[in-house]
Amino acid sequence: MSETSSNSDVRAQAQPAAGARYNAPAQALHWITAALIFITLALAWVMTNMPDDAPTRGLLFTLHKSFGITIFALVIVRIVWRGRHPAPPLAARLSRWDRSASVASHMLLYLLLIVMPISGYMMSAAGAHPISFFGLFNLPISATKDEAAEHAAFFVHVGVLQWVLYALVLLHVGAALWHVIMRRDGVLDRMLPPQGEEHGRHPMPAKVDMGWRRPLSVTPRTDTQPHEPSE
Ligand code: HEM
Ligand code: HEM
Repeated sequence: MSETSSNSDVRAQAQPAAGARYNAPAQALHWITAALIFITLALAWVMTNMPDDAPTRGLLFTLHKSFGITIFALVIVRIVWRGRHPAPPLAARLSRWDRSASVASHMLLYLLLIVMPISGYMMSAAGAHPISFFGLFNLPISATKDEAAEHAAFFVHVGVLQWVLYALVLLHVGAALWHVIMRRDGVLDRMLPPQGEEHGRHPMPAKVDMGWRRPLSVTPRTDTQPHEPSE
């Protein structure tokens, strides 16, 4: 293959196909949800490790519940939007395994974004604990405590799904980083507004086989003397 054609192959790989991006509302919903997930998790960790009589404990529980409910509302909007605006086609060079892993992990993430808030809501509602939405209004809860239902929802929300969520988010963010650092194939760009090439800057070069990746040569050089100063 000539040098010119291999360079153009590299450039073609570096550029995401024109228009192969999620649209602006899908991107906005993705990043707002991602931010809210990290906030909700941080609140959960802090609030469950506070002494019962800490003055801000109630506030943190209210914020955790309110952000969780907001995530639920956003994911419903997002799924409806996604139904009407399919994801941009995946790059043809992705392997079948990559495609299946991407589709399956995204579906599981959507499922968790639905089941986590529902199980949280059921836990609080069955335990007859108040569920205030940012202090604006209260959501309906059971009039009397239903311990069996509360424990079942606790098992789902805290005992099982939080760990599934950690694993999936780690996998998802890890995969995104892997595409950015190792593959350099523009996958992250699909979830970002147009930039780089569209604004006259050069795109980041695709992964090229760099010399430093080859095993170091142990053959001594014969063209120079080892300790001679060169001029
Ligand atoms: C996507 C949304 C949500 C996520 C990711 C989430 C995540 C979590 C996690 C990880 C914990 C366990 C913290 C720990 O033990 O270290 C937790 C606890 C809790 N969550 Fe959620 N949650 C969400 C939504 C909700 C909602 C909507 C409610 C109620 C309306 C809720 C109520 C609670 C309560 C009461 C606890 C404390 C359980 C206890 O230890 O007594 N959560 N949540
Ligand atoms: C720093 C954090 C994150 C990064 C860098 C990131 C990156 C991405 C990227 C690049 C895509 C597009 C993948 C593709 O084109 O096939 C995507 C899709 C997606 N992400 Fe994230 N993400 C992050 C956090 C999250 C979180 C916290 C969640 C939810 C818990 C999430 C849920 C999703 C879902 C459900 C999709 C599929 C969108 C669809 O096809 O409708 N992401 N993410």
